[in-house]
Amino acid sequence: MYVCLCNAVSDKALREAVRRYQPKSIQQLRQLVPVGKQCGKCIRVAREIMEDELQHA
Ligand code: FES
Repeated sequence: MYVCLCNAVSDKALREAVRRYQPKSIQQLRQLVPVGKQCGKCIRVAREIMEDELQHA
């Protein structure tokens, strides 16, 4: 499933980046994957996925 349609970032790609690099904030996550760089609609879901992945790490 695509989380960010503008940049074609999937939930799988997000989870992999979170697992590998353990970002501490959405800002750090955005440096790892091109999420939320255009319309910004995906940021909320991206944050939820990041938090979920960090909790289950
Ligand atoms: Fe991610 Fe638009 S859906 S920036």
